[in-house]
Amino acid sequence: MKLLFIGDVVGSPGRDMVQQYLPKLKETYKPQVVIINGENAAAGRGITEKIYRQFLEWGAHAVTLGNHSWDHKEIFTFIDEANNLVRPANFPEGVPGKGITYVRWNALQVAVINLQGRTFMPPLDCPFKKAEELVEEARKVTPIIFVDMHAEATSEKQALGWLLDGKVSAVIGTHTHVQTADYRILPKGTAYMTDVGMTGPYDGILGMQKEPIIQKFFDSLPARFTVPKDGRAQLSAVLIDVDDKTGQSKSIKPILINEDHPFFD
Ligand SMILES: [Fe+2]
Ligand SMILES: [Fe+2]
Repeated sequence: MKLLFIGDVVGSPGRDMVQQYLPKLKETYKPQVVIINGENAAAGRGITEKIYRQFLEWGAHAVTLGNHSWDHKEIFTFIDEANNLVRPANFPEGVPGKGITYVRWNALQVAVINLQGRTFMPPLDCPFKKAEELVEEARKVTPIIFVDMHAEATSEKQALGWLLDGKVSAVIGTHTHVQTADYRILPKGTAYMTDVGMTGPYDGILGMQKEPIIQKFFDSLPARFTVPKDGRAQLSAVLIDVDDKTGQSKSIKPILINEDHPFFD
């Protein structure tokens, strides 16, 4: 089972990259299941139903979120009906949506779990305790388990990777928007990467227009951050090859497509 995970899609430049490159990535790498982090897909903040459906039409099977889950008010109108959309599982009980979903491919199922870190981020329930609960639940259904750990601190992501080593197929980080070079298979078979990186504007700061952000570092005044409408864009992703029977990963390959790292395949 090959899983392709595309990191934080930012605004229309990010969505355009998914539409343009997902068919090529599917043709080249033949992933059976595609997962997209869509927390910034609607103009940098949240996701709409139309965008969620577009991702599915373009070939995604599940969409994960993060700290921007609720930024577009429309989320509350469709999250409970969106079967393949997950928000961080460690939000308090009773919050709309869910933190785990199952994607079926022939006789196999992939559990997709979304968690959010608490270090340098708003307080939430414990992501480690929640991870243990959900992994126990998921392992009754399938050994193939994918975890998107949406967090700021590298240490928190590494800690979750080690905690879940041998219990899940992959722990892949999102949120910091810059692809890290520490991709590896941990000793008990879990694919790990601190951050998959961002899909969106290539010449901004974390996908947003750079000038207001630079200015804010000078004056610390409130500023409106927006997604640049035109200019160069990039796609960040990771490909994971999982053993169908054990759920252990055999390989992990980072994918970065931009003008400095063109897609040749
Ligand atoms: Fe993000
Ligand atoms: Fe985030």
